[in-house]
Amino acid sequence: MNLKGRDFLKLLDFTPEEIVYLLDLAAELKDKKKKGIPVDTLRGKNVALIFEKTSTRTRCAFEVAAHDLGLGTTYLDPAGSQIGKKESIADTARVLSGMYEGIEYRGFGQEIVEELAKYSSVPVWNGLTNEFHPTQMLADLLTIREQFGRLKGIKLTYMGDARYNMGNSLMVACAKMGMHFTACTTAKYFPAEELVAQCKEIAAQTGGSVTLTEDAVAGTKDVDVIYTDVWVSMGEPDDVWEERIRELSPYQVTAQIMKNAGEKAIFMHCLPAFHDLKTKIGAEMGERFGIKEMEVTDEVFESPQSRVFEEAENRMHSIKAVMAATL
Ligand code: CP
Ligand code: NVA
Repeated sequence: MNLKGRDFLKLLDFTPEEIVYLLDLAAELKDKKKKGIPVDTLRGKNVALIFEKTSTRTRCAFEVAAHDLGLGTTYLDPAGSQIGKKESIADTARVLSGMYEGIEYRGFGQEIVEELAKYSSVPVWNGLTNEFHPTQMLADLLTIREQFGRLKGIKLTYMGDARYNMGNSLMVACAKMGMHFTACTTAKYFPAEELVAQCKEIAAQTGGSVTLTEDAVAGTKDVDVIYTDVWVSMGEPDDVWEERIRELSPYQVTAQIMKNAGEKAIFMHCLPAFHDLKTKIGAEMGERFGIKEMEVTDEVFESPQSRVFEEAENRMHSIKAVMAATL
């Protein structure tokens, strides 16, 4: 397997074998990190980390992983560069390609990261767009594999806004790996028909499946993984909160949902999560709508079934694998 020089823009571009290769590499790098065995084979190279949206996990994961690999980093924050405002993506790609061996990009439309990759002569890694979050997928698959010892046949139900980056990406990831994906939400929030059709085709070849349901009981019965994400994503207008809370509250992950899934089921969330009132937005919504939690209850978030912090740590090991494999 040789992924040198490849971009990492979405899982749709990768075969199941290539994804397994990245997961195995992430597991190996994780094991070495735990044992204190250094893997700094990329010394002397540099990567640019462009963030047009804010981040905690993705930025820290890229920076720590790069440091461990011996790579130098430059962080470009949402306000601190010329990108898009004074300089086109195509020009930025060609400028950065002359100084760096790799470029991470977090931003808005998927077409922007695809354009960056088109004009860049070095690998480009998608650190989240509106449509996809592929490095999150590697961390999630790694976490699920660590839990159940396999991916094939695992049943994952995604609740909430399934038509955005996380719902889309999980549907693709499950289809690729022969897993059973269910989007459990009100029909308005189902992933786009075209992507659903594409994933059903992939799933038909891998032994997986794609199901869309509005039934929160049937959709979560005896599944292995319950997954959710924020109801309003970065870049969306503030005035959608009221509608989202009203429409998605029936799909909140509660202790009852976890009980329906069964004792062996785990809870996952890409984070950050609104599971209490200890954030500015959480407190504001609490006051406006008289709620104390949103997409997941604090009880589930803090329960022994929750794997959210293992998942967050795995962002670093899997992002390290992406850089190590493609550079
Ligand atoms: N899960 C995730 O991408 O988190 P950040 O927004 O903090 O990077
Ligand atoms: N759907 C979320 C994911 C954050 C990691 C967002 O785009 O804000």
